[in-house]
Amino acid sequence: MGDMLVIEDDRNARIGLKRAFEKEGFKVDAAASAAEAMAFIESGLYDAVLSDIVLPDGDGLELLKTVKESSPDTIVVMMTAFGSVKRAVKAMKIGAYDFIEKPVDLEKLRLVIRRAISERSVREENVRLKRELKKQYRFDNIVGQSEAMQKVYRLVEQVAPTKATVLILGESGTGKELVANALHYNSQRADGPFIKVNCASLTETLLESELFGHEKGSFTGAFSQRKGRFELANGGTLFIDELSEIPRTTQVKLLRVLQEHEFERVGGNETIPVDVRIIAATNADIADEVASGKVREDLYYRLKVVTIDLPPLRDRKEDIPLLVNYFVDLFARKNGKEIAGIDGGAMEAMTRHSWPGNVRELEHCIENAVVMTRDSRIKIEDLSIVPKEAGRDPAESGITAGKPIRDVERELILKTLESLGWNKTKAAKVLGIGARTLYRKLKEYGIEGRG
Ligand SMILES: Nc1ncnc2c1ncn2[C@@H]1O[C@H](COP(=O)(O)OP(=O)(O)OP(=O)(O)O)[C@@H](O)[C@H]1O
Ligand SMILES: [Mg+2]
Repeated sequence: MGDMLVIEDDRNARIGLKRAFEKEGFKVDAAASAAEAMAFIESGLYDAVLSDIVLPDGDGLELLKTVKESSPDTIVVMMTAFGSVKRAVKAMKIGAYDFIEKPVDLEKLRLVIRRAISERSVREENVRLKRELKKQYRFDNIVGQSEAMQKVYRLVEQVAPTKATVLILGESGTGKELVANALHYNSQRADGPFIKVNCASLTETLLESELFGHEKGSFTGAFSQRKGRFELANGGTLFIDELSEIPRTTQVKLLRVLQEHEFERVGGNETIPVDVRIIAATNADIADEVASGKVREDLYYRLKVVTIDLPPLRDRKEDIPLLVNYFVDLFARKNGKEIAGIDGGAMEAMTRHSWPGNVRELEHCIENAVVMTRDSRIKIEDLSIVPKEAGRDPAESGITAGKPIRDVERELILKTLESLGWNKTKAAKVLGIGARTLYRKLKEYGIEGRG
């Protein structure tokens, strides 16, 4: 049953209680005074404490306070003399489980203790279950219980604390950046910097200066010395996003930092040592990029030691309801709306959809629905996933004579991105422009925030 401490100055009562509860299966210590009780409390941890409220050398309430402070789960039952209701109430407020009037009815006391112990074990079981549940979701903001995601959690958990370089693969919107965050914040470097660099949005010169920094005057526009992301990430993690967009010459320099943990600023001679953990990500088919020579094989082999492959959403449809409810909650809160959830038909449509843009597309879809709905429940009409045949009908495509080319271009980019689930690398290919050009245009047209 557990360990119990009985505090009672009356010798006969004390011995009677000790025997009674030993019969119940407790290991019982008995104290005759507050001082003696204090010594027991300081040296041991009790499941239950049974204490007189008035003691010859002290106050039972003080003892109660001490017990509750050092061990809040300990069950304390106070024994009160007839008529001391006020003090009994106070005892309850401080955290006593119950009180029982003297002379003590042993049978009643036994029942009180039994009930307390069983309630506590239910409570402990609940805590344990909650902890288990938390473990399942683990990284609070990463939603998903599917086998594929469980595998991701296990990997993240396993490699986060190490210094291993990690390569995160997965289609656009599958959560690569979320995972990179989880890796950093679950590592020993969590208190160090977490620095990101997106390689697709920069020209070669700018990317090198971004990564390694530059000395004053090293190229046109380098007006002063500047620290690069590697230096900024010292002692922490550098997240290199859209890895496959790095020019081959820059890849060589990157490889060197990975191997030797040192580099020079652009236009500089000083060799700078760094302690940086690298996490890289790409939504491209990396094996293809290596085969075509776009990504250097040596860099790839260096990076892929630990690879985390994020599954596309269509391969883990069982996670869709979880994600839907998570985002409904999130955006309802953000927008100050009272939304109870989503109705059956809408959920079914969400589950049926193939989600080429993965979780990002689902997130945008729910955000829109939450903002647009006039109801307390999201309905199918609120969802923007009804498939559209983009661009077939010239009227629908929005191209009319006399429209500024800028507007048409903006629309073309938007539609292409939407149809490809916001995969910018693919969109650039389809549009026949470089990824960097696409990024520049996104910025120019103010579209970038959505992706
Ligand atoms: N499992 C998930 N649980 C909750 N939110 C997610 C999950 N996966 C992705 N998201 C959300 O979806 C959006 C896109 O995720 P993220 O930016 O990590 O994708 P990505 O894989 O880096 O995409 P890209 O290749 O386009 O950069 C983010 O808002 C992110 O919070
Ligand atoms: Mg990303």
